[in-house]
Amino acid sequence: MGPYHIVLTHFPIALWSLAMLVILWRVVSSGSLAQRLDHALVPLLTVALLSGLGAYATGTQVWPWESISASPLGRNHLMMAAWTVVLWAVVWWLRWRRGEAVWAGALRWAMAVLALLGGGLLAVTGTLGGHLTNAPTDLSELLRRLGWEVYSTFYVPNLTVGALGAFALLCVLLGLWARRAGSSSAG
Ligand code: HEM
Repeated sequence: MGPYHIVLTHFPIALWSLAMLVILWRVVSSGSLAQRLDHALVPLLTVALLSGLGAYATGTQVWPWESISASPLGRNHLMMAAWTVVLWAVVWWLRWRRGEAVWAGALRWAMAVLALLGGGLLAVTGTLGGHLTNAPTDLSELLRRLGWEVYSTFYVPNLTVGALGAFALLCVLLGLWARRAGSSSAG
């Protein structure tokens, strides 16, 4: 599955990077080009998310769980990939459900922050993946200067991963509950 993963990863990396640029452009410009690019954003984010899920699924099949989970490098690649997919899924959902309202008021700046965060997570995911195939990049040098040694920093134990997953699920359930409570009090 290794070669499939390597080929597939190029799609979400290219498409999410492009989406980040489109979002940042739309945040600072209401010109006609920015608006036309924005109209392509939902299809772009949809294809990017599907290819990201494909990259994620193939990634889990490259090495046995015992191997990929044995080192901080493997675990962090997996965790960063999960954060990347979830964050871009939120961006996709927001733009799809809220439509052009995302470019109004404070939400506009939230989109900029999400796009930058999504681009950063994607870059870190790809950088760690590169180390798994012995293809280091200059970004790992930057991470090292920030105190993140890619081969040894952040070994998150299984229990902590489970607790983070449970916390994320709790947040989703709370959000759904708050939405239901809000709509029933409005009605
Ligand atoms: C959005 C999801 C993901 C992206 C963007 C991504 C990105 C990458 C990149 C850029 C590489 C290096 C490819 C190269 O050097 O040409 C890589 C390698 C690798 N990734 Fe991922 N990855 C993702 C998800 C995952 C997941 C969930 C796993 C499973 C834990 C995983 C496991 C691996 C492994 C084992 C390698 C080394 C492949 C080999 O030795 O042939 N990846 N990944």
